[in-house]
Amino acid sequence: MKVSVKVPSTTANLGPGFDIFGLALPFYNEITVEETVIPHLGIEFHVYDEKGEENLYIKNEGEENIVFKAIKILYNFVGQEPDSLKITIKTGIPIARGLGSSASVIVGGLIAANELLGNPSDIDALLAIATEVEGHPDNVVPAFVGGFVVASQEDDGRVIYRKIEWNNDWKLTVCIPDFELQTGISRSVLPETVSYKDAIFNTKRCSMFIEALHTKDDKLMKLALQDKLHQPYREKLVPGLKEISNKIKNEEDIIGCVLSGAGPSLLVISKQNALEKAKDIINETYNNLNIKVDVLTVEIEQNGAYIESNGEEN
Ligand code: HSE
Repeated sequence: MKVSVKVPSTTANLGPGFDIFGLALPFYNEITVEETVIPHLGIEFHVYDEKGEENLYIKNEGEENIVFKAIKILYNFVGQEPDSLKITIKTGIPIARGLGSSASVIVGGLIAANELLGNPSDIDALLAIATEVEGHPDNVVPAFVGGFVVASQEDDGRVIYRKIEWNNDWKLTVCIPDFELQTGISRSVLPETVSYKDAIFNTKRCSMFIEALHTKDDKLMKLALQDKLHQPYREKLVPGLKEISNKIKNEEDIIGCVLSGAGPSLLVISKQNALEKAKDIINETYNNLNIKVDVLTVEIEQNGAYIESNGEEN
């Protein structure tokens, strides 16, 4: 039996909501998990890029692979070992760009493996495992449920989340530069502790963010999209963030520019009438920095991961 799951890409943080806010985007990975015929041969991994070419760089991680780690926790939870599985990943989400590719494969692997096992775990249990492996819930939750979410992993491991309606007047332009940034490196530049002042700054911004979403308040959202907990420390790793943020400061209809997850991609939020202006600023900035970039305006993906096929013949 083999199960294929399609999982959307995600952008996390959205400025002030470090490790809390995330939303799903319309780029997808497909994760297939199947039982191999001869048991106890171990895990076989195959990763293909969009052109269908096998990507050996990821394949050889073996047991360190995050999909394997997640599936092992699930199997162990029901007293089994995942010792005869073939896992195939077709990647449509750029890797190490801050677009939730790792969360998507963890989520896809878990949903597929859970289905193979006869669904012993509910979504809450799968979310807790996915968050444990990923380290934070802000990508895995929207990958699971779609839309915009506020998510928290509690001390007992439970993941609490709420989906909040996005304001579709706020268009999302994703800037994907042609270089990678590993999340571990991007987290390593963050300080161990922050000042009360900065913690309060972000608490205010997160409160404004949620109120701005509920009331569709552009001006409040523009204020809300500021951050003092992670972006100032990461700016040096992500050329473009500071430059674009400065250029759009006085553009009323360009709501904000934030780091997408741990970077290096950026997310620019603007009203429809300011889309062209926003794209000009983005392209000009990256051009001046000599960095190639894909600039794509996309809709929020309202649906989360789903089982594409389940059976022998797929
Ligand atoms: N909240 C995480 C971070 C998302 O910013 O490090 C990246 O996976």
